[in-house]
Amino acid sequence: AQTVERGEDGVVTVGGIGVTQLAEEYGTPAYVLDEADFRARARAWRTAFGTDADVFYAGKAFLSRAVVRWLNEEGLNLDVCSGGELATALSAGMPADRIAFHGNNKSPEEIERAVRAGVGRIVLDSFQEIVRVAHIAQSLGKRQRVQIRITVGVEAHTHEFIATAHEDQKFGIPLAGGHAAEAVRRALQLDGLELIGIHSHIGSQIFDMSGFEVAAHRVVGLLKDIRDEHGIELPEIDLGGGLGIAYTSDDDPREPHEIAKALTEIVTRECESAKLRTPRISVEPGRAIVGPTAFTLYEVGTVKPLDGLRTYVSVDGGMSDNIRTALYDAEYTVALVSRASDAEPMLVRVVGKHCESGDIVVKDAFLPGDLAPGDLIAVPATGAYCRSMASNYNHVLRPPVVAVREGEARVVVRRETEEDLLRLDVG
Ligand code: LLP
Repeated sequence: AQTVERGEDGVVTVGGIGVTQLAEEYGTPAYVLDEADFRARARAWRTAFGTDADVFYAGKAFLSRAVVRWLNEEGLNLDVCSGGELATALSAGMPADRIAFHGNNKSPEEIERAVRAGVGRIVLDSFQEIVRVAHIAQSLGKRQRVQIRITVGVEAHTHEFIATAHEDQKFGIPLAGGHAAEAVRRALQLDGLELIGIHSHIGSQIFDMSGFEVAAHRVVGLLKDIRDEHGIELPEIDLGGGLGIAYTSDDDPREPHEIAKALTEIVTRECESAKLRTPRISVEPGRAIVGPTAFTLYEVGTVKPLDGLRTYVSVDGGMSDNIRTALYDAEYTVALVSRASDAEPMLVRVVGKHCESGDIVVKDAFLPGDLAPGDLIAVPATGAYCRSMASNYNHVLRPPVVAVREGEARVVVRRETEEDLLRLDVG
């Protein structure tokens, strides 16, 4: 977060509020979200891409009604990938025509809701879905704007589970073997569909622009083939999300304006050489907007030194509020935030309270050697894919999201309660 400072007493403040006060009022663990930072990042993306391009925030990174309102006010569009995300977006007043609906297995009910609501685009992910969406739209007397998601066959340099442009995975229709061209042929024949463009998302937590370059080259190649075969120039291309953020000081993320410039230049150059009109570009950053804007605040419960190895620091959350370390070997940093300390740093592993040894939040870090139960520690850069992937494992209650801004804090997603859990258990 941008408005994080350490006061003279050693207490860290965010948005003008001390973490000790936040912990007292809202409890721990809690995700603390810096609204000003969120808005600034959203605006930076919007400004960088200007009026000739669209920025769709990827709601899967973190979605709540407050976030939808901020995005709406900052002029961003929204990418949703389930009925639940769609419901959240609509209930917070995001205009349907600024929503894109994604997913590799949207149910007929979800599709019908999206078409009825009038979403701006549905991103088609398979041959069956092309027909399914066309039929649903037609039966509702509508013509749905759609894009086709293709896999361009690039290897993104990221974790296997979050790379999505190589061919052997579940998303999209392969460009290779003429499959994407065939999908376009079918979509163009169906009255229920208005094909507006081609979509490509190569993966997530990517720093190297070369994957986007190859993707843009291949997407434009397909646009050219479509022009040659059908005599039409599709007006839009979407290059997906995936831009990386700094989890540790080893990561060196690009700024939105650099990304916008690079992507726009690639597409323009490719279109010029193919003698195509440059299509309207859209992108779908999730992590790059929300990731850095929140940290997780934990209270230390136990400190267990293991001779010659390291010290295990157990906190009051864990893999239920941040699965990323266990799932992707993700790296995080951690800091003592409730007081100052001059003690010698010690090597720690920050672990949760769950019943498995893989329940690690921060694998290797240093914290002051006098760390003790009751201290507050914070793990930065947990705004993306932490609350949205949180679980109730061990019937642990999911933490709240507390938004801070200009000295004021408010809960935007409240803490789960035991009543919430028991309400679902109707046996
Ligand atoms: N667009 C599409 C079609 C996507 O599938 C995704 C992410 C995005 C945009 C946004 O990507 P971002 O800019 O946030 O990287 N749970 C994983 C990330 C999975 C991303 C899935 N799709 C993680 O915690 O790293």
